[in-house]
Amino acid sequence: MIVTTKELFKQAYGNYALGAYNINNAEQTMGLFRGCMESKAPFIIQISKGARKYTDKRMLEGMIRAADEIFPDAIFAVHLDHGDEETCYDCIESGFYSSVMIDASALPFEENVATTKRVVDRAHAKGVSVEAELGQLGGVEEHVVVSEDQAHLTDPDQAAEFIKRTGCDSLACAIGTSHGAFKFTGGQGLHFEVVKAIQDLVPGYPLVLHGSSSVPQDEVARINAAGGNLAGAKGVDANQYLPAAKLGVCKINIDTDGRLVWTRVYREYFRDHPEVFDFRPMGKVFMEEYAKFIASRNELLGSAGQLEVVRAALGK
Ligand code: G3H
Ligand code: 13P
Ligand code: ZN
Repeated sequence: MIVTTKELFKQAYGNYALGAYNINNAEQTMGLFRGCMESKAPFIIQISKGARKYTDKRMLEGMIRAADEIFPDAIFAVHLDHGDEETCYDCIESGFYSSVMIDASALPFEENVATTKRVVDRAHAKGVSVEAELGQLGGVEEHVVVSEDQAHLTDPDQAAEFIKRTGCDSLACAIGTSHGAFKFTGGQGLHFEVVKAIQDLVPGYPLVLHGSSSVPQDEVARINAAGGNLAGAKGVDANQYLPAAKLGVCKINIDTDGRLVWTRVYREYFRDHPEVFDFRPMGKVFMEEYAKFIASRNELLGSAGQLEVVRAALGK
């Protein structure tokens, strides 16, 4: 069942965070739904602009509709990840997405406010939730590379003003994470004081953390042992997810870690089965491994076991 992120955040606030997982293909979709059903967790499916272009946006929509039928007990939001204004409108008008992110964080403050406000007005008229972003994460996003020195943390006073002026339903804030598999190259950690300061100014307001993959070191070692080259890859400490959730972070974005599961499974499979050229045996391994990974993240986020609580609260 598709619900809005706003509905999910109302339940989660202060207790746990929803895992927000990107999908691009059928195997990821199956693994994601299985992992969330196994761990009895509500969740957020994220679709990036790149994912919409990879096959076709209608293909992703079809896969999610099919998964909704295959797993009738699932409760999830369908969310556009890092949208520009035009893509936000396309998703809002489609009637399929329950949530969009307008990422105008690279624009000057006033332009970010104006752009976000336009998207909020269009989205709210259709019952769609809006996530916006203030501050700038480091890392790679849609082929744009932001170095850690260019990245800047969210200013709490600006955040409070931004939320008030735009009416956005949640805010992605920069607290030291970055996208991709090479985080904290400068050695800096998470700035929870920024989250606390925003919460002091806007109590009860749902915050979002991007760039939150943990880049498990055993995964990196296995990839490298199977012919990969990810030396120096590093991520967020996954034991920080729950403390962040307790401070009002309601959504934690995890994409890179799923790509690492995929890379490890396929590299090891090709290494160990050089005679195989049928993609299904390895696809099956990937779906199982991805489901296990998702369930393990939902445990750390605190969303595991919340599915029936959310269903009861939503009266659905
Ligand atoms: O933040 C970006 C997400 O990891 C999605 O990545 O734009 O390569 O699909 P993508
Ligand atoms: P990671 O690259 O850390 O998985 O972040 C994903 C993300 O923020 C998607 O919007
Ligand atoms: Zn992101």
